[in-house]
Amino acid sequence: MILVTGGAGFIGSNFVLDWLAQSDEPIINLDALTYAGNRANLASLDGDARHVFVHGDIGDRALVDGLLATHRPRAIVHFAAESHVDRSIHGPGAFMKTNVDGTFTLLEAARAFWGTLDGAEKAAFRFHHVSTDEVYGSLKPTDPPFAETNPYEPNSPYSASKAASDHLVRAWHHTYGLPVLTTNCSNNYGPLHFPEKLIPLMIVNALAGKPLPVYGDGQQIRDWLYVKDHCSGIRAVLAGGRVGETYNIGGWNEMANIDIVRTVCALLDELRPDPAGPYARLITYVTDRPGHDRRYAIDARKIERELGWRPAETFATGIRKTVQWYLDNAAWVADVQSGAYKDWIGANYSAR
Ligand code: NAD
Ligand code: TYD
Repeated sequence: MILVTGGAGFIGSNFVLDWLAQSDEPIINLDALTYAGNRANLASLDGDARHVFVHGDIGDRALVDGLLATHRPRAIVHFAAESHVDRSIHGPGAFMKTNVDGTFTLLEAARAFWGTLDGAEKAAFRFHHVSTDEVYGSLKPTDPPFAETNPYEPNSPYSASKAASDHLVRAWHHTYGLPVLTTNCSNNYGPLHFPEKLIPLMIVNALAGKPLPVYGDGQQIRDWLYVKDHCSGIRAVLAGGRVGETYNIGGWNEMANIDIVRTVCALLDELRPDPAGPYARLITYVTDRPGHDRRYAIDARKIERELGWRPAETFATGIRKTVQWYLDNAAWVADVQSGAYKDWIGANYSAR
């Protein structure tokens, strides 16, 4: 079996669902159920003995030690993190606690457990750390995309905390020999994405007739990858990646934020036309994010060359599936928008 952390969040829950759709290898899913974690994402696995959900914190060493000793996973796939840049600007402390201290605790627990293994079990064990392209900083318009050899230049509290965790993972390999893998992926989108992030926020605001808040001039560029392609990339690296290596995962799809928003509006115009007029009428330019990175782009040739991985979806196919998913899952949206979500929307947007 494998131990997944953060498997009730956006990417983690997609990973758990895809894994168990393709394999009978069980998953222990350790998740603290912060505002971003949602048991409903995994409702289709209720009663499925292959999925063991544990409500707990990666920073709880005794809990993690007990899970490792009891279940003896062959791998840890580490998604758990605070993941939203804007929240990291409003309150960086939680990012240091989970992303840095939590990863440290998990590495120490993994190192102790791995030390008890012998022979084939020890050789096969993997600690797979899921990270982001944001650790590399911001690109100029003509710079080549981020390669695995780019220097780390994180600019936000979020990316600094992820960079710190990447460094810990690297050091635990070099110093202690822990068999680690790290993947640095670009912006994901798809089903079960919490509507604080750009794409789901635009979909749910548009459907509610609310303003579509575009930061600054909307010309910031991101590379966008359909979440299920990220999950298949992680499976490929876990299965065949070289120990101690990092692999960039991306969609070969650089787009400016304003073009993302216009694409979402056009799809909604087609799939759920609004009698009041085109959704793009709701686009509203608002005060920029402090320290906003201008451009991210991923050179994903290493994972393709070594492991034969390429994304299955284009942006056109992935975004259509995504918009349709939100139209089909209004109850999920209503559920996650209750309570604390409203406080965040007020904190982030009311003064912009
Ligand atoms: P998310 O915020 O949707 O989910 C994070 C999950 O981790 C939640 O279920 C939350 O409850 C859990 N969690 C948080 N703190 C925890 C703790 N201390 N102990 C246990 N569980 C805890 O995040 P996501 O978008 O699914 O991202 C998952 C991982 O992928 C993160 O490490 C993130 O840095 C990385 N990543 C995300 C993207 C993206 O576009 N979303 C891109 C590249 C990499
Ligand atoms: P986001 O989804 O928060 O991901 P990240 O900051 O990790 O790339 O934001 C994606 C881009 O969209 C980023 O450049 C910020 C921008 N953005 C807006 O313009 N408006 C918004 O309301 C949000 C949430 C993001």
